[in-house]
Amino acid sequence: MDLGLKGKNAIITGSTRGIGRAIAERLASEGMNVAIGARDDEATAAAGKEIAEAHGVKVFAKPCNVKDAEAYKAWLEAAIEDLGGLDVFVPNVSGGGGMDSEKNWWRNFEIDVLHTVRGAETCLPALKESGAGAIVIIGSTNAVETFMGPMAYNAMKAALVTYSKQLSQFVAGKGVRVNTVSPGPIYFEGGAWEMIKGTMPKMYEGVLKQIPAGRMGTPEEVANVVAFLASPAASLVTGVNLVADNGFTKRVQL
Ligand SMILES: NC(=O)c1ccc[n+]([C@@H]2O[C@H](COP(=O)([O-])OP(=O)(O)OC[C@H]3O[C@@H](n4cnc5c(N)ncnc54)[C@H](OP(=O)(O)O)[C@@H]3O)[C@@H](O)[C@H]2O)c1
Repeated sequence: MDLGLKGKNAIITGSTRGIGRAIAERLASEGMNVAIGARDDEATAAAGKEIAEAHGVKVFAKPCNVKDAEAYKAWLEAAIEDLGGLDVFVPNVSGGGGMDSEKNWWRNFEIDVLHTVRGAETCLPALKESGAGAIVIIGSTNAVETFMGPMAYNAMKAALVTYSKQLSQFVAGKGVRVNTVSPGPIYFEGGAWEMIKGTMPKMYEGVLKQIPAGRMGTPEEVANVVAFLASPAASLVTGVNLVADNGFTKRVQL
């Protein structure tokens, strides 16, 4: 199936490793030029070089901390200018989990929510010019079913789903689609679940038991879903929260 992404441009935040990196690789493999970045400048440069060499596309690779509002806006604007326009925006960075203090609430609000909102506001003029603009927000199944405890991460991911739906209505007339992909547990080397497997094996096994297919997902499987929603092949799909969790969640989605 031709997704119709070849020659188009994408920005993916938090894209040197894990799910963000897999999304950048997947979109580049479709022939998209990509802007990637993270806080670590060496990791950003290395990822940029590897993606460009592997897929033969243009890659804008510069470090950026999305928590710094001004630097983040300047990074997005530089990426759009360098790529020569924008068709797809994937806000992927998260402040991560944790339940220890009010600090988590500020961190997840600032990183998960505000980096998505600020990013969308900065990218929307270019996305409207695209004619087939798409925003794909990275959520989590933690937003839709109780997980561990009352974490800021879970509530802020839920805020993103509501924002995503309402933004989708607001910009539909301008040719921009907005969707969320909510992954369940995703296992990869260097990722959170590898760490949990080593440090909290009982918790890891407990979560694994709740996945009827018997395994966690991979970043590449999430990237496949993102690529579809980002593409003109999904031209009818906007305002959805697509749960990609190998059956981890148990609710009925009506
Ligand atoms: N892994 C899972 O099981 C899972 C499940 C559901 C949803 N998700 C969601 O999927 C997304 C990616 O998760 P992941 O597990 O792939 O994360 P990860 O392995 O921790 O990778 C995060 C990426 O973002 C970068 N980053 C972190 N903080 C940043 C900041 N302030 N500014 C710019 N870049 C930053 C990191 O590089 P630097 O450290 O160099 O900045 C790295 O490239 C998140 O939104 C997460 O909530 C993950």
